[in-house]
Amino acid sequence: MTKQILIVPGDGIGPEVMGEVRRVLEWFRDSRGLALEIAEDVIGGAAIDKYGVPLAPETLAKAKQADAVLLGAVGGPKWAKMSYDKRPEAGLLSIRKEMGLFANLRPAIVFDALIDASSLKPDIVRGLDIMIVRELTGGVYFGEPRGITDIGNGERRGINTQVYTTSEIVRIARVAFELARKRSKKVCSCEKSNVMESGILWREEVTKLHASEYSDVELSHMYADNCAMQLLRAPKQFDVILTDNLFGDILSDEAAMLTGSLGMLPSASLGAADKSGRQPAMYEPIHGSAPDIAGQDKANPLASILSAAMMFRYSFNWAAEADLLETAVRAVLDSGIRTADILSPGLQPTGTQTMGGAVLQALGKLV
Ligand code: IPM
Ligand code: MG
Repeated sequence: MTKQILIVPGDGIGPEVMGEVRRVLEWFRDSRGLALEIAEDVIGGAAIDKYGVPLAPETLAKAKQADAVLLGAVGGPKWAKMSYDKRPEAGLLSIRKEMGLFANLRPAIVFDALIDASSLKPDIVRGLDIMIVRELTGGVYFGEPRGITDIGNGERRGINTQVYTTSEIVRIARVAFELARKRSKKVCSCEKSNVMESGILWREEVTKLHASEYSDVELSHMYADNCAMQLLRAPKQFDVILTDNLFGDILSDEAAMLTGSLGMLPSASLGAADKSGRQPAMYEPIHGSAPDIAGQDKANPLASILSAAMMFRYSFNWAAEADLLETAVRAVLDSGIRTADILSPGLQPTGTQTMGGAVLQALGKLV
């Protein structure tokens, strides 16, 4: 069965890094005989320019039909003054929501070759391998009521709502426990149950699910602020971190930086499988559109390339091909090839395309 992949490069460095992903996918298609069909469309600012909206209905329809979506990044100064619901970011939020991608998997892995790129001491991050499981279609990102209202006397009021239901908590907790079973069997659930009712509910539901179905996994609870601190103090205490949409957004940026650069980290956003086993999925680097370096061949394409490896693993069950691609990336790093964001002392920075080319070369050597 041919796998249909939709690439939506987005804005800023999105098109550059996705260009390298496309070359990698074409290599797998042509040199490994993988049945891949690649289509492309626009999202975010690029979609505003082309269709007048950040996510066109026809793009969403294509995304839903595809076996997996690969997204670059969205946003940029050109669209920053538009109203909130018309901004590029709204396109990203609505594709997540409309595809039902409630589970966001954000691994943070420290590659040995990049130990120097981390701002933390080598001993603290060496061998780090944690997985943040972030709830992605609920919480304060989508809660109602929301908005800015005039309340008279020159005063205005901005409001967002943090809201979670039992089923939303249980389904994301299940993802975390299942993943932990395939890893070191530890889940740390993070919320702010000391100040938020939604956090109390979160803790109670996670505890209940754990007791009834996952008592073989070690469960701990932590306030999200403490988790932010512990990630810097002793990150290796964590295996799987389970958390909500907003805390997950923040903690995953922090965890990513432990590894040296946002430019290295992939992510997977998954929905619920239907009766036939088909599971909606989108893969994207954790980094943003980085308008300051866009179009200059400076961006690191590895986070996007590693996102394609996650797609092989999670959507297509091609573990061997995922391993091959990850091994190739490791080989490139070991050989000292670096984009500017992961530069170590004594090395020269290379560009986006050279980095992509190096991955292709490493793949060629490995097979
Ligand atoms: C992320 C990003 C997005 C988010 C933005 C671009 C809307 O920061 O994927 O982490 O906040 O979810
Ligand atoms: Mg973020």
